[in-house]
Amino acid sequence: MSFPQRRLRRLRRTPAIRRLVAETRLSVDDLVAPLFVREGISEPQPIGSLPGVVQHTVASLRTEVRELRDLGIPAVILFGVPAEKDATGSGACDPHGIVQVALQELRDEVGDDVVLMADLCIDEYTDHGHCGVLTADGEVDNDATLEIYAEAAVAQADAGADVVAPSGMMDGQVMVIRDALDDAEHEQVSILAYAAKYASGLYGPFRDAVDVTIAGGGDRKGYQQDPRNAREAMEEIRADIGEGADMVMVKPAVTYLDLIARARAEVDVPIAAYHVSGEYSMIKAAAERGWIDGPAVALEQITAVKRAGADIVLTYFARELAEGFRDGV
Ligand code: PBG
Repeated sequence: MSFPQRRLRRLRRTPAIRRLVAETRLSVDDLVAPLFVREGISEPQPIGSLPGVVQHTVASLRTEVRELRDLGIPAVILFGVPAEKDATGSGACDPHGIVQVALQELRDEVGDDVVLMADLCIDEYTDHGHCGVLTADGEVDNDATLEIYAEAAVAQADAGADVVAPSGMMDGQVMVIRDALDDAEHEQVSILAYAAKYASGLYGPFRDAVDVTIAGGGDRKGYQQDPRNAREAMEEIRADIGEGADMVMVKPAVTYLDLIARARAEVDVPIAAYHVSGEYSMIKAAAERGWIDGPAVALEQITAVKRAGADIVLTYFARELAEGFRDGV
């Protein structure tokens, strides 16, 4: 045989050949759109650090979710911004809290055509900005927080959530939530566990979106994971599946592709990855300056997350990507 024996470029020659041999296929079915709904506003509010994303009113949220349904997006995940915050984040459990109201309206709007997920945490609702309640010396109290999560899960399920997604990284949260849902006859409501969630610098724009400032310049390193650890993430994932998680999440996405791949190899439940606010905003900001081709980089990153092994991608690019697929880009 003459040199070179293999010419790998043959299968890259035309768009049709490339399409035929593509190993990873990203489609609208893989996407979940994160959406913010804010209490007490009459017009949607833009979020400076998340260009193109807004804090919705309940009415504008209905329209948005209808349009996402029409684009074929199978699921949305809701985050609430309450009008009032307090020490225990009581708005998260209130049947009239903003996310519960929004869930009811959306169920009415789209029926079962869109999977309604609710982020389950209290940081958007606490005046100190932590994901749990605090002890007298300002520590996040794991077990006292679990009781609140259980109550919030039932409130979300009562309001019509198909999936609750605990994101607070308290130990035992999935077990407590599963028990509470079952006791309230919500055994059909599933749990998407933010299982491997890192203490990341990439959540900054999200905290603007939900008006969260952590008291005293604090951080979440006491409960979210250390970016130096990978084996520990597998422990978190196995623990959450053992406690009853139906699906598990790795978050953020692009800086943790190794964990997505590892989780895919080691567990068999659906794996979600959250391409977070900072990942989105970095692309938007660089594209705005003309330094990168924004849509191309967005597609490349979300495809990489899928290639690593994610079945489901939560991304602020969901709508743009779905419009691209519709238009055949
Ligand atoms: C906690 C929560 C956060 C995000 C999702 N759920 C913020 C945090 O842990 O500080 C971040 C999502 C993003 O950055 O897009 N309720």
